[in-house]
Amino acid sequence: MNAPSAPTFSTPPSTIVVDHPMIQHKLTLMRRTRTPANEFRLLLREISMMMAYEVTRDMPMEMIEIETPLTTMQAPVVAGKKLCLVSVLRAGGGILEGMLEILPAARVGHVGLYRDPVSLAAVEYYLKLPRDISERTAIVLDPMLATGNSAAAAVAEVKAAGCQSIKFVSLISAPEGLATFHEAHPDVPVFTAAIDSHLNDHGYIVPGIGDAGDRIFGTK
Ligand code: URA
Repeated sequence: MNAPSAPTFSTPPSTIVVDHPMIQHKLTLMRRTRTPANEFRLLLREISMMMAYEVTRDMPMEMIEIETPLTTMQAPVVAGKKLCLVSVLRAGGGILEGMLEILPAARVGHVGLYRDPVSLAAVEYYLKLPRDISERTAIVLDPMLATGNSAAAAVAEVKAAGCQSIKFVSLISAPEGLATFHEAHPDVPVFTAAIDSHLNDHGYIVPGIGDAGDRIFGTK
């Protein structure tokens, strides 16, 4: 008798894989077990800066009149809603740093979630969002979209605070997590640098990078 085949997941249409060669190269360096925490953090910061460009690519522009040393001209500036970066503690902080380099005027919120080790359900222990988040576009940050439970719970909090324009950024996603997230939030696009093979029995992404928080902060 043939072994039962693993379930297959099709990639939801709202998934954007940011496959720029420099991002892919840096991600390969991050994946290596021997990459130390200081290099890992730097690589994550660099990738996050590049992802910041992609996630803001559709920001509306408007023309304003400016003076150059030679003449006046109509020149483009970013218009529309202001931004709020929402970091899912603790590993989201690794992406937040790079994003803030490119988007320094963004407000910052935090959602603290841990995974119940048995059920893998997301348990919230902290929430702090800017009061005016409903008037902003929120970009929710978590390097690992694994089961999708934490990502879905974090976005639910942002929606509960009244925000209607939301994007999610991860470094690596599991097909299972993308499916769960899309089912909960089909209106929220996911920007990710890679979609890996699958989750293992402990909810870790394979091949992945291991525990993102441990690798960022050098904890074990
Ligand atoms: N969280 C991590 O840090 N790594 C995984 O592979 C899955 C969840």
